[in-house]
Amino acid sequence: MRGYHAFHDPALEGVLVSAEQISEVVTRLGEQIAADYRGRDLALVTVLRGGYVFIADLCRAIDLPLTLDFMAISAYGGGGGAVRITKDLDDDIAGRHVLVVEDIIDTGLTLNYLIGVLRQRKPASLEVCTLFDKDVRRIADLPLEYVGTRIPDRFVVGYGMDLGGRYRNLPFLATLHDGVMG
Ligand code: IMP
Ligand code: MG
Repeated sequence: MRGYHAFHDPALEGVLVSAEQISEVVTRLGEQIAADYRGRDLALVTVLRGGYVFIADLCRAIDLPLTLDFMAISAYGGGGGAVRITKDLDDDIAGRHVLVVEDIIDTGLTLNYLIGVLRQRKPASLEVCTLFDKDVRRIADLPLEYVGTRIPDRFVVGYGMDLGGRYRNLPFLATLHDGVMG
C-alpha cells in the first residue's frame, strides 16, 4: 500500500495492478492508437465517472490531434444492461473516427448498449479501448480493439473506479476484502 497513507482502510486487500504497471500499459495503448489513427479525425469518447482518470493519462499518451467528449450513464437496474444516458455527448460524432474509452468491462452489457446508441449517429468508425478487462464474466460479444490488461473476476477499485463513490483517487488498482461488497 505504498503511497496510500491518507487513511489505512481495512477494506483494501492489496494492489492488483501498480501505478507503474498502469503507466506502462497506458503508454503502450497510446502508441498503438496513435499509429492506427494517424491521418484520421479521432474523437475520444469517455464514460463518466469511472473513465476520467484513464482518459486523462491516455489522451496525453496519444501523439495526434484529437477531441475529447464525455457521456454519463446510469444503469436502470434489474439486469439486462439497459442504461439511461444522464449526460449526452456535446459534439456530433457523424463522420468521425470514434474511440470509446472505458475503465473496465465486466459483463459488457453497459458498453453493448452504448455502442448501439453511438452507431445510430453514423460515425466513420467506432472502436473500443478498455484499460481493464474481466473477460471471464463477459456476456455481450464486443469488438474490443484495445485492451490494456486482463484481470481476474474480482471487484476492484482505484484509478477512477469506485465503491460507493470512494477510492477513485487511488493511483493503483486494488482488490477489496471479501465481504466488503455486502
Ligand atoms: P458491465 O456492464 O458489466 O461491463 O460493467 C460496466 C461498468 O461497471 C464499468 O464501466 C464500471 O463502471 C463498472 N464496473 C464493473 N466492474 C467493476 C469493478 O470491479 N469495480 C468498479 N466498477 C466496476
Ligand atoms: Mg465505466
